[in-house]
Amino acid sequence: MAKIALLGIGTVGGGVAELLCSNAAQIAAGAGEKLELKYIMCSRAHPDNPFADKIVYDFSVIENDEEISVVAECIGGVGAAYEYVKRALLAGKNVVSSNKELIAERGMELLAIAAQKNVRLLFEASVGGGIPIIRPLTQCLAANRVDEIYGILNGTTNYILTQMFQCEQSFDTALREAQRLGYAESDPTADIEGLDAGRKICILADICFGRNVPPEKIRIRGITGITAADAVLAGRLGFTVKLLGRAKRMENRLTVYVSPHMIGEDKLLSGISGVMNGICVKGNAVGECLFYGAGAGRLPTASAVVADLIDAVRHVSDGKDPRWVEGANDLLADSDELPCRWYVRAKAGAAALERVFGGTAVTENVYSAIITQEMPRSELEDLCAGLGVEAVWPVLE
Ligand code: HSE
Repeated sequence: MAKIALLGIGTVGGGVAELLCSNAAQIAAGAGEKLELKYIMCSRAHPDNPFADKIVYDFSVIENDEEISVVAECIGGVGAAYEYVKRALLAGKNVVSSNKELIAERGMELLAIAAQKNVRLLFEASVGGGIPIIRPLTQCLAANRVDEIYGILNGTTNYILTQMFQCEQSFDTALREAQRLGYAESDPTADIEGLDAGRKICILADICFGRNVPPEKIRIRGITGITAADAVLAGRLGFTVKLLGRAKRMENRLTVYVSPHMIGEDKLLSGISGVMNGICVKGNAVGECLFYGAGAGRLPTASAVVADLIDAVRHVSDGKDPRWVEGANDLLADSDELPCRWYVRAKAGAAALERVFGGTAVTENVYSAIITQEMPRSELEDLCAGLGVEAVWPVLE
């Protein structure tokens, strides 16, 4: 019998506790022994919770209990979560975490501690919710040089854009619904401003390229500038709009960023709606692989956390767990220098846009939009001067 401690009993932690009970036989078969949830650590009482008898408030109870072999961290953030994960690893316990902020910001340091203590730090749930992506990258695709990885990495924003574009719902109503469904972060600014997707693309870049990509060093543009007019204009141009995180190898450098993108209606990512996420990996042997599934939500995320618990209990330390190291100072190239075609929405009329950019513009009420030739953003910004441009997003080729 393996004894587990769970940190946090919110959306994800609650899902983990529930899944450990509801799928206990399946989980025991996978782990080779039963998993018993011995403690749940919370900051306050939850008298009505079915697991209330397991609640503790002091981490040292868990840290000092030699029976606990694995700690599942589902608190979020880098404050208390960082302290407890580090203490758990130093105490010789395996840790699984759903915490993208923690892994993106402190993963390099914590993985080094885990290796030093010969324990595991697993974080499959930190990117893509229930989608298997971290193990496929480190195991199934291990023979590839990954040249590019990009995807829809935030369920809340994809849900909002789907509701706005397909159901004509307002931004605020769609956001409230995403919060009610348990998709959004406690502060949804992290979702809508692209920070959550930024943390996730940094983790994917860390794994694919083996170098630390700090979230504060990448360009992040969120979805707050996307309007109902963009839904109409993009549709007329043959595109939809999705928030993508993207990491691309450029010889010895990387470009990593988050931005709304125009996605052609012939591309698989254009059909990924609601809370679903999709991640495309381009490997030099395998070509393109697309991973698709629920990117947020209680049980999809718990599915990935509990899979890590099973793996940690088996402690099959096969040397394939991800690790990354500090990169060179000039590792990151500015994503605005990446030549792209661009969607430009402006108050200038269609004729003015066509005169500047060539091609054919479309119009909806006071706005016109056009797709430009390929160029870096700096060049584009010079051309945009005086056109009343309100939105500029790259086209995904
Ligand atoms: N707020 C996140 C999202 C949760 O919407 O994708 C899953 O990481």
